[in-house]
Amino acid sequence: TREEVGRHRSPRDRVWVTHGTEVFDVTDFVELHPGGADKVLLAAGGALEPFWALYAPHVLELLREYKVGELSPEEAPPAPAASQDPFAGDPPRHPGLRVNSQKPFNAEPPAELLGERFLTPNELFFTRNHLPVPVVDPGSYRLRVEGPGGRGVSLSLAELRSRFPKHEVTATLQCAGNRRSEMSRVRPVKGLSWDIGAISTARWGGARLRDVLLHAGFSEEREGEWHVCFEGLDTDAGGAPYGASIPYGRAVSPAADVLLAYEMNGQELPRDHGFPLRVVVPGVVGARSVKWLRRVAISPAESPSHWQQNDYKGFSPCVDWDTVDYRTAPAIQELPVQSAITQPRPGAAVPAGELTVKGYA
Ligand code: MTE
Repeated sequence: TREEVGRHRSPRDRVWVTHGTEVFDVTDFVELHPGGADKVLLAAGGALEPFWALYAPHVLELLREYKVGELSPEEAPPAPAASQDPFAGDPPRHPGLRVNSQKPFNAEPPAELLGERFLTPNELFFTRNHLPVPVVDPGSYRLRVEGPGGRGVSLSLAELRSRFPKHEVTATLQCAGNRRSEMSRVRPVKGLSWDIGAISTARWGGARLRDVLLHAGFSEEREGEWHVCFEGLDTDAGGAPYGASIPYGRAVSPAADVLLAYEMNGQELPRDHGFPLRVVVPGVVGARSVKWLRRVAISPAESPSHWQQNDYKGFSPCVDWDTVDYRTAPAIQELPVQSAITQPRPGAAVPAGELTVKGYA
């Protein structure tokens, strides 16, 4: 009951909060996330919803593993009005996707379908959203490109299409969490429980980032360490956008094929995949391929975004939640070679004798 939840308001009594009908014991979460602790403690003993505006939606994802129960049915609050739901404007999705979280939407193609074709159909391409999908008017959309040593430019979609040659690249995107459910069987890890489908391949079309940077007056060579930082139009309740960065050298390299993509498999970019414009960084963890791109900034430092600084970092196997130090760990860029078997699935009964095994690599 709410009354029982209300008795858990301090670390001594354990800190409980509710979201919808779910009850979480966040005592340990609060210790692990000192930055967000004060905000979560505001809701101690009660519902998170009134404080929703203070949290980034990824907090809910992190809370998942701290669930301790459900409110008794008589206690369930009425469903929030659509206007209060930040995800009410999300697009419709293909029913065949295996959903790992509904809000924000995270889903993967079933393994059997993933292995069917080399290019993943757009509607089955895995989706990894941290925030609600922004609603973008393509007519008034502009991309800002700025930073020291160039001139700031602002480009419409029509300009991006007409001023720069269209370049096409077939590239696979993979989330760093791909196969996490298998990893967790070796040793428990935190995060969404992806199966083997947080990976998909498309033919992307758009302007080369290199061409746009040269057009904005940036040179091919830069002294010292520089980064190209990307910002999305999707923002958390506090107004902070999704962001990430890549090293400058990769951004301007003619061989790296980094794209500002407006097409996916010959179609306009779907809303879940960044309409109207996204970055595609081939060969690099999906987190750097920023969707709904609003700004490109040249900077001597990596993106200040939460997702560059405090997530998507590489650790050695001896690091755990007691010893982790995000500041000194390198941001993931390239990922190791990956492969998985798509058919037969684990536990499937197979006929005796010769067997065809399918998969990806
Ligand atoms: N860009 C924005 N603006 N917001 C996001 O949440 N997620 C990133 C990246 N770009 C994300 C984003 C992550 S973690 C991945 S793996 C890829 O987008 C997934 O791209 P997809 O959803 O098109 O498969």
